[in-house]
Amino acid sequence: TLNLPCLLVVVGGTGGTSVRQASGCRGLSQLAELPETHQLLRQTCRDYADKELIPVAAKLDKEHAYPAKQIKELGSIGVMAIEVPEDLGGAGMDYLAYCLALEEISRGCASTGVIVSVNNSLYVGPVLKFGTEEQKKRWISPFTTGEKVGCFALSEPGNGSDAGAASTMAHQDGDHWVLNGTKAWITNSWDASAVIVFATTDKKLKHKGISAFLVPMPHSGLSLGKKEDKLGIRASSTANIILEDCRIPLDNMLGSRGAGFKIAMQTLDSGRLGIASQALGIAQASLDCAADYALKRTAFGAPIGKLQAIQFKLADMAVALESARLLTWKAALLRDSKKPFTKEAAMAKLSASEAATFCSHQAIQILGGMGYVTDMPAERHYRDARITEIYEGTSEIQRLVIAGQILKEYQL
Ligand code: CAA
Repeated sequence: TLNLPCLLVVVGGTGGTSVRQASGCRGLSQLAELPETHQLLRQTCRDYADKELIPVAAKLDKEHAYPAKQIKELGSIGVMAIEVPEDLGGAGMDYLAYCLALEEISRGCASTGVIVSVNNSLYVGPVLKFGTEEQKKRWISPFTTGEKVGCFALSEPGNGSDAGAASTMAHQDGDHWVLNGTKAWITNSWDASAVIVFATTDKKLKHKGISAFLVPMPHSGLSLGKKEDKLGIRASSTANIILEDCRIPLDNMLGSRGAGFKIAMQTLDSGRLGIASQALGIAQASLDCAADYALKRTAFGAPIGKLQAIQFKLADMAVALESARLLTWKAALLRDSKKPFTKEAAMAKLSASEAATFCSHQAIQILGGMGYVTDMPAERHYRDARITEIYEGTSEIQRLVIAGQILKEYQL
């Protein structure tokens, strides 16, 4: 189980055990049936975000600084490997727990949210699902504590949405695989200690030629491109990973030869719930900021929250947020009960990322000039929201996945 008392010490209080009162309760959706452990985790991550992330998020963003201290603290309470069983060092909780935690963390700092998401769902997730026992011990346990994070290298300069067109090559040379090629847009790359690389052993086989490989970082034959200077999520690192005769033992293949594309697709089904949760956190932070401002700012002799123009915006924001949250929880519950969830994960990611874009846009509109300057967090939420419609499958790709699944259901 998650080491919650430890987190309560980290955040310096015991408030995490009780449901918040009055202003502290704002925006918290309550589901009567949410299990107590999940409520406790959610409240604890919420307190952590309030005390340890919100106060530093603007500085981390401005300085492009990796939140090493916060990632270690989150690791020490199990949040870096929520689904990993306890014997491997994780929290042994389910995916609903992961979504709840990630939303709260991202509400505090969306950069920290994506670092946590990539480690959980794109790195340790596939090793847990497809790795051998030996691989799990070596490649998961050190990545549960926040001391080390992993990354996932699927995209390339020449192919992003068309993931099956990988041109990074892997060939066997004696008892080693040799990797050559460039992977692009790799989240966590500058801070990572391992990467899952997708490479093809035979390009003619298209997606069926792709395999997944575990590569330690740093490693000879592996180098990093420049740290990208991004619009948002600036405290997380993004760079190319360049592979030039990068030799790894044969044992470092994850799953079987040629299974890489399906490993990537299944991993992204889960990863999309992480990004959906990150987007929910950004949307919630935007609504919090806008509602607070609407109560405080006066115009035409009253708080602007009295104006219907503002009230309509707040209502639309809350509806977009809450419906995306319910879709995200539904997909997580399907996953937790081992039912198919590809369509629902794509729906959750699409609706949550569009809710984040919408809510952060409306928050700036409500704040006016104050929304446009860095004195208030609204502009950061707006910048952070944008990527959620792009990475782990653009909104257009989510629509393709949803439509593909619907047509399959109607063919049955
Ligand atoms: N689960 C299991 N198998 C799946 C699957 C899934 N969700 N989706 C597809 N497959 C299987 C299919 O059944 C098919 O199997 P067979 O060969 O046995 O028939 C095979 O994979 C090929 O499927 P498609 O023909 O549907 O594949 P496609 O080439 O048309 O591509 C796609 C489908 C949905 C467009 C896919 O390429 C895709 O998801 N693209 C987006 C890539 C993406 O999300 N990239 C994100 C990069 S990571 C990132 O962003 C991380 C970060 O920074 C935080």
